[in-house]
Amino acid sequence: MIWYPYQQMKTMPAPYKIVDAKGVWLYTEENRMIDSISSWWSVIHGYQHPVLIEAIKSQLERFPHVMLGGLTHEPVQKLSDKLEAWLPGDLNYCFFSDSGSVGVEVALKMALQYYVNQGNLERTKVLSLTHAYHGDTFKTMEVGDDEDYHFILEAYGQNPNIIHIPTKIPALEEAFLRFHKELNCFIVEPLLQGAGGMRMYDISFLKRARELCDQYDVLLIFDEVATGFGRTRHRFVADQVLPDILVLGKALTGGYIGHAATIANQKVYKGFYDDNPDKALMHGPTFMGNPLACSVAFASIELFETEDYLSKIHHIETITRQEMQGFMDERIKEIRILGGCICIEVYDSSVLKGYQSFAYNQGVFSRPFLNYLYAMVPYIITDDELRQVLQTMKAWFQR
Ligand SMILES: Cc1ncc(COP(=O)(O)O)c(C=O)c1O
Repeated sequence: MIWYPYQQMKTMPAPYKIVDAKGVWLYTEENRMIDSISSWWSVIHGYQHPVLIEAIKSQLERFPHVMLGGLTHEPVQKLSDKLEAWLPGDLNYCFFSDSGSVGVEVALKMALQYYVNQGNLERTKVLSLTHAYHGDTFKTMEVGDDEDYHFILEAYGQNPNIIHIPTKIPALEEAFLRFHKELNCFIVEPLLQGAGGMRMYDISFLKRARELCDQYDVLLIFDEVATGFGRTRHRFVADQVLPDILVLGKALTGGYIGHAATIANQKVYKGFYDDNPDKALMHGPTFMGNPLACSVAFASIELFETEDYLSKIHHIETITRQEMQGFMDERIKEIRILGGCICIEVYDSSVLKGYQSFAYNQGVFSRPFLNYLYAMVPYIITDDELRQVLQTMKAWFQR
């Protein structure tokens, strides 16, 4: 029996059974539909991309997996070299893991131990954002602020070491003033808070955060598991404001295999580099640096570069804005657009009840949550396919 995610098993509707997938299309036995959310925002090149399939196949014929403890291999070396060259600043030290949640756990562990390694045991607090989402493991739930998790965290006991603030500069300044001696890091989903409701905020907040982190020697962590690889129209938000630790996942492998990377700058890395074994980072997921994942990630990055994906994302944003121009409905609170993300927020979540099967009948796969109807399409989508997704969203309100 499969236990499905985020669902009350007793009442959940039957999921669509996918028998094939190609480009932006998902196929059931009787229908086909555009995947308007790129399999949880990861499949940026679409399904069955020949270059990505070939990268996995050719590695599979050599070896599918070896551990990184005491061993290394070409695919992980190539990916780490590529990320080192490709990422901004001195974000050069790549720690691989098998999912975004674990990648964030690693970042939080790095930040805490960075100070412990210096003998500073006072910096036990983490600053985080309201409406943040960083994953489903316990520490990531704690730094997150997802209302769906509140009741389970209450049962376990809220962690007093986590401080949440809104994306407003006065709140940021106040938190630093009050807690700077105890903070080890400030973690954010930069510019776009995904699962917390596709909330978009201004870059000035991040610039100010960088200044304050420098002033008070606090590490800045960007969780770009969702925003990385162009979703906000920047390759990475880290290209605009440089964090000390960057977490990538989802689209890192083009969404073909689960994998993540926690990438530290020189300052953080040097905090662990020592003759003392106790200062080592004690972490090591079984499938970290998996050769299939690394091969496909390397190929995915090359595609992103050679096929000028940033122009494609810019084009997606332009069409989205055109299509939404002048569209409104009294049930809609706000329409937000940024790069390859559009979100229609409604006042009352019941307004979106039934949307998924309506969209299915229009040839679109969608998965609204709470008050949010959104799309994050694969970047290879054609104009007509994109319009089909957007017109389906509008048609729901125009029935
Ligand atoms: C910003 C962010 N961080 C972390 C995660 C967790 O990634 P994973 O589901 O691969 O554990 C997600 C997943 O949606 C995310 O959006």
